[in-house]
Amino acid sequence: MQLFLDTADLTAIKKYAAWGIVDGITTNPSLVAKEGVDFETRVKEICRVISGPVSAEVLSLEAEKMIVEGKKYAKWAKNVYVKLPMGVEGLKACKALSDAGIPINMTLIFTPAQALLAAKAGAKLVSPFVGRLDDIGHDGMGVIYDIVEIYRTYGFTAKVLAASIRHPQHILEAMKAGADIATLPPELLEKMALHPLTTQGIEKFAADWKKSQQS
Ligand code: E4P
Repeated sequence: MQLFLDTADLTAIKKYAAWGIVDGITTNPSLVAKEGVDFETRVKEICRVISGPVSAEVLSLEAEKMIVEGKKYAKWAKNVYVKLPMGVEGLKACKALSDAGIPINMTLIFTPAQALLAAKAGAKLVSPFVGRLDDIGHDGMGVIYDIVEIYRTYGFTAKVLAASIRHPQHILEAMKAGADIATLPPELLEKMALHPLTTQGIEKFAADWKKSQQS
């Protein structure tokens, strides 16, 4: 399973890229707006740090305009994945851009039916939003299980990218469900690496070693 970071924060991206386990980046307009930077410049900066897929989301709402935007983004770096919002316009743009050889991440997926259409339209990555479904009392992870099963049954090659991940348990559940990728806020990566018993263990080993050297 691959781990992506869901952020446009270049400092965080550099910090965690140095761990050697970041496989890609997802951004969205809210995350880029939070940084207060030029979108094109930031995407290019991220692509220089991360060699895996870097998702950049279109802002247009009509297919024709999405296609123009997508073609422009695809020229920024070879690892840019154009992120398109699910919907009729997004699907039309997905088909056209995929046919032109531009990799697509279809975002804002909330049902297996939407995921099925995205895969048929040629999306390379399909992003169901687990946390946002949980927020409204639905079973977000259940949607991941269903999509994985449907893709396996029918041989779709689109990768399932579990998005809107809120806590480490979501990541474990997404792994158990067979998601190909989980994208997570940087602070979650930190949480995954730590455990109080690991910290205590390291301290005890060091203390015992020190004691033995004094006697
Ligand atoms: C994924 O590509 C999205 O950017 C993201 O995971 C959305 O997460 P949120 O629901 O926490 O905003």
